[in-house]
Amino acid sequence: MKTITLLQPDDWHAHLRDGLALKRTVPDLAKQFARAICMPNLVPPVKTVAEAEAYRERIMAHVPEGVAFDPRMVLYFTDHTAPDEIKKIKDSAHVNAIKLYPAGATTNSDNGVSDIRKVYAVIEQLEKYQVPLLLHGEVTHSHVDIFDREKRFLDEVLSPLLKQFPDLKIVLEHITTKEAAHFVLEQDRNVAATITPQHLLFNRNDMLVGGIKPHFYCLPILKRQTHQQTLLEVATSGNPKFFLGTDSAPHAQDAKENACGCAGCYSAPTAIELYAQAFDQAGKIERLEGFASHFGADFYGLARNTNTITLVQEEQTIPAQLDYLDDQQIIPLYAGKTIQWRKV
Ligand code: NCD
Ligand code: ZN
Repeated sequence: MKTITLLQPDDWHAHLRDGLALKRTVPDLAKQFARAICMPNLVPPVKTVAEAEAYRERIMAHVPEGVAFDPRMVLYFTDHTAPDEIKKIKDSAHVNAIKLYPAGATTNSDNGVSDIRKVYAVIEQLEKYQVPLLLHGEVTHSHVDIFDREKRFLDEVLSPLLKQFPDLKIVLEHITTKEAAHFVLEQDRNVAATITPQHLLFNRNDMLVGGIKPHFYCLPILKRQTHQQTLLEVATSGNPKFFLGTDSAPHAQDAKENACGCAGCYSAPTAIELYAQAFDQAGKIERLEGFASHFGADFYGLARNTNTITLVQEEQTIPAQLDYLDDQQIIPLYAGKTIQWRKV
């Protein structure tokens, strides 16, 4: 039986939510990952270092006994973010970055930035202090086709931004297209990207052929297979600009199986095994450790983990459903399906 041992991975993009949801999300993530970037799109959002510290305490209260888990916090960028909040991030022991959601781009993004040119005074501070700007990279104009929104963001927002601020540290989150992969490859070391398990394992046919499958619906939306292929190539290439970020995002079953279903896939409980499946299918399982356990920490300037985890090539069936909140369920990504890797 094949086994692989890697330094414990980190998840550089996760949604844990708040309140009762933490009972589900924190143990699911902490059983695999040593650290996670905890996305700030709560209602209301996490806008200051003080709010991030308080949110971190609420997360820590749900870390199981004997498990070491280090939530890394992020602020939510709004039109009103104060430039001097950035120095506070730099000086903070727990906050590592700020996340920019174009207003209206995705779940809980209504308080996001309405026009990036309005917040250049804050971006100047990010460049000065080398605090990473995490980007949801999609334009939101109603006339732009949903499958083109990431590409248009590169041309219309990101290229001009990098011209103005060439040393800005940027993570283009959950990239989904070959254009985004190539864009990242063409930049200097200050531009990196996260890639989710769903964008490596699936494409829009999985979501749309033979009936609409709402549990594959996330934003940015799954694209055609040629994009999936490019994402697999760059993720498994050993290039340190590409690293693990699950974008695991819980929504109750009712909210997804709905005439207007929410965006987000919940992968946290088996995320590292899903990535192992994708890397193995590409014949590159030996490249998993760099992607999952080295490159993200290096980009954020944090020490790599020192403990290890072991994965064994053995069938496991993903649970059909998981308990959530008081009386609800989550249907996890790839529910009821069998994959070939298991964490021991
Ligand atoms: C995320 C969520 O549910 O918070 N949803 C998603 O489809 N990815 C938000 C996000 O990261 O876009
Ligand atoms: Zn996300």
